[in-house]
Amino acid sequence: MCGIIGYTGKDEAAGIMLDALELLEYRGYDSAGIALLSEGEIQILKTAGRVGDLRRLCSGEKPEGRCGIGHTRWATHGGVCGANAHPHRFGRVTLIHNGIIENYKELKEKYGLDGLLQSETDSEVVAAVLEHFYSGDPYSAIRRTVLKLKGTFALAVLFDDQPDCIFAVRNVSPIVAAVTDNGAFLASDVAAIAPYTADYFVVPEFHVVCLGPGNAELFDLSGDRAVIDWLSVDWDVSRSGKEGYPFYMEKEIMEQPEVIGETIFPRIKEGKPDFSEEGIPDEILSACQRICVIACGTAMHAGLVGKSLIQAIIGIHVDVVMASEFMYNDPVVDKDTLVIAISQSGETIDTLEALKFARKCGSPCISIVNVKGASIARASEYVIYTNAGPEIAVASTKAYTTQLAVLYLLTARMAMARKLWSEQELAGYMCELQRVPAVLKQVLETKEEIHRLAGSILNASDVFMIGRGLDYSILLEGSLKLKEVSYIHSEAYASGELKHGTIALITEDTPVIAVVTQEKLKSKELSNIREVQSRGARVVLLIKEGETLDGGEQWSCVYRLPKMDDFFMVMPASIVLQLIAYFVSLDKGLDVDKPRNLAKVVTVE
Ligand code: AGP
Repeated sequence: MCGIIGYTGKDEAAGIMLDALELLEYRGYDSAGIALLSEGEIQILKTAGRVGDLRRLCSGEKPEGRCGIGHTRWATHGGVCGANAHPHRFGRVTLIHNGIIENYKELKEKYGLDGLLQSETDSEVVAAVLEHFYSGDPYSAIRRTVLKLKGTFALAVLFDDQPDCIFAVRNVSPIVAAVTDNGAFLASDVAAIAPYTADYFVVPEFHVVCLGPGNAELFDLSGDRAVIDWLSVDWDVSRSGKEGYPFYMEKEIMEQPEVIGETIFPRIKEGKPDFSEEGIPDEILSACQRICVIACGTAMHAGLVGKSLIQAIIGIHVDVVMASEFMYNDPVVDKDTLVIAISQSGETIDTLEALKFARKCGSPCISIVNVKGASIARASEYVIYTNAGPEIAVASTKAYTTQLAVLYLLTARMAMARKLWSEQELAGYMCELQRVPAVLKQVLETKEEIHRLAGSILNASDVFMIGRGLDYSILLEGSLKLKEVSYIHSEAYASGELKHGTIALITEDTPVIAVVTQEKLKSKELSNIREVQSRGARVVLLIKEGETLDGGEQWSCVYRLPKMDDFFMVMPASIVLQLIAYFVSLDKGLDVDKPRNLAKVVTVE
């Protein structure tokens, strides 16, 4: 949604904040700005455009000050322009905001702000309300303002007469904070401050934190001091840069064998799946009568794979519901429904609100999250962290496959809890799961072949992707990847359904990517491919190595996937689809990591 940063300490704040904003830019990149408080004076520099544009502005203005706040924006209220860029200032108050204030119009009217505002944003209204309540006591002003707000917010505030201090408060939108010998930090996520410290804390909702040059104080809204719950960064901080890759997306695709290993191996004890660290009792895996997965985008596509696995192996019904629809379609969830929330960021508000609704219905909830201490993790009874490390590219790749890795483990644990498998069956499944990192490495070694494959759709305006069952599930994800990063319109279609209308769109040279990995569906999938070929489609086929193809077919490109058990073919096929999307975007000269209109974390419903 937006990225916020704050620093107060011994060093000049501008450079620190610009570096941090670059690490937060994946959260939004329509405009950027910083504010510095020095000797009672506030200096604000902000501009439409990227953090790089702000850096150029700062190199000319040379802002000074050791206390400041910074922001990179994904526009919600008000267009993309300098006036709507954060920070916003009203009276003695300067602030940055991530979130949506739903009642900002009522507040604007209540406090007579018409004609007094410089921007179209809801955030500036908050600054004005804070100014209204400010009479020298920041805590009181913040408490009284927060009680008036409806919506989501992560606010970082400077008061002219509070030198060296940054105040912050949140509801749903994330804030983490840290204190080092050189100063104190706050940010939207820990990736921005990890270069300075491994120890941080999540600012609890509706608590006010005050950062001084070498300390942090936390109070609840009634003014009582609260205990800070310290956490540690659980990944190798040196891995948070691009490490020589042109884009984070390529780096994160290439990291997948390693991070999948880091996600599964710690949870395999004596060859068996083990969630004792997460404290998940077998009872909730054995007692539930059905499962409901709630997630968005890529995370939802991971849920579709989980559905296929669980229904095939466990034999209970699994619904996969897009979180933004969940609450509005009278969901039937209860104490017998295990709800699984999947989210890379752990902050997607659609998923968070759906999870809260499910919990109110009495459902046991497990979340699969990548960011430690995130809101969705804290709103769940149990959380399984994917150990993917920070995922910076907006297009999710390693988060997806580590989510799948967790779902493979969870399915196996559920089979054990329900005594569905013999020792031998379990061993065979677990052995195949543990092969995944090596198989993916094999695929990644052929990335230049995949790059050539991508060339066959580089100039397409529409690409169809067809498959059945698990192949269809991963093509939904492959299609999203291609759309997100290359702006080519793509549509994943269950290949058996194509003939019921959409095949009307298949004409001479229409590019079609087909995936055939499931033995039980192969013959049908191949006949569906012949249907599009007979209408002139140019088919790119992903199929297991060793499979024979009828010589009569016209294949423009065939990629042979390393063989795995059908359930696990999702993994190598997904990597190929990720790389196809990546190379198309790269060869089109697009900003692969920061596609237009997108943000990494969507905290608006
Ligand atoms: C994935 O490439 C997209 N960036 C997007 O669909 C994302 O998966 C979705 O917004 C959910 O995000 P989350 O996993 O952080 O909840």
